[in-house]
Amino acid sequence: MTAPRITVVGSVNLDFVASGRILPSPGETVTGATLARHPGGKGANQALAARRLGAEVSLIGRVGGDSMADEALALLRGDGVDLASCRADGGHPTGVALIAVSAEGENQIVVCPGANMAVTPADLPPRIDGALIAQLELPIDTVAAGAQRTHGLVVLNLAPAAEVPQSLLDRADVIVVNETEAAFYGEALRRSGGLVALTLGARGAELWRAGERIAVATPPRVQVVDTTGAGDAFVGALAVALLEDQPHDRALAFACAAGALAASRAGAQPSLPTRAELEAVLTRS
Ligand code: RIB
Repeated sequence: MTAPRITVVGSVNLDFVASGRILPSPGETVTGATLARHPGGKGANQALAARRLGAEVSLIGRVGGDSMADEALALLRGDGVDLASCRADGGHPTGVALIAVSAEGENQIVVCPGANMAVTPADLPPRIDGALIAQLELPIDTVAAGAQRTHGLVVLNLAPAAEVPQSLLDRADVIVVNETEAAFYGEALRRSGGLVALTLGARGAELWRAGERIAVATPPRVQVVDTTGAGDAFVGALAVALLEDQPHDRALAFACAAGALAASRAGAQPSLPTRAELEAVLTRS
């Protein structure tokens, strides 16, 4: 089988992760956490997720001209994601995410986008062949231009939720949302002509088309360590499965298993499964 070809127009961050017992409430200080740094950013995570599952992936984005840039790109580079269109921009810092993770694996994330918000439609080629994966951590007009210029499957992860033009929703062949995002977009999702994948955390995911539920999947049972990046693993895996023409129910199960495996390990990019790991889990379940 030929490997799916995917362009990701998306964010690159360096994640600073404080893992502790509980998450702080507003105004509260909690102590006793341990600190780790991992490559992250929804765009970069989804690019790596698809790459580890066998796709040929290129990433269009920006990092800063600082010492964090190489660290943020290290795992993408190591796994062979094409970074020729990922520019270093001396005028901005590399994007950073401050992430608190509790003993239950739940997180709180604050993103400082830095160079990500400097990606413009001029950074995109006039035509994108193959599939596109995009999220909403870049300027919306850049995401919209990417979708309009794509001659292939457009997978749009509406995260983090933000106002988007109707034309972008209309162009998306596949929209991926979690429950919070689904509530934000409401009726607009039901009007979408494409597939809508709704992720439900540990309960799995559903696939909808034209207001009708067409597939349901439950994930394999795992010990949750850190849910950061689980949604990104789902997006990358769903795109690969659909491009491989897997039937809808199998594609959804494939994506759910990728999300569950990512949640069973620490960090965003370090937790993303390989194809062999994913196939092994699917064979067992
Ligand atoms: O989806 C998880 C990602 O969101 C993290 O890696 C963080 O960088 C934020 O972009």
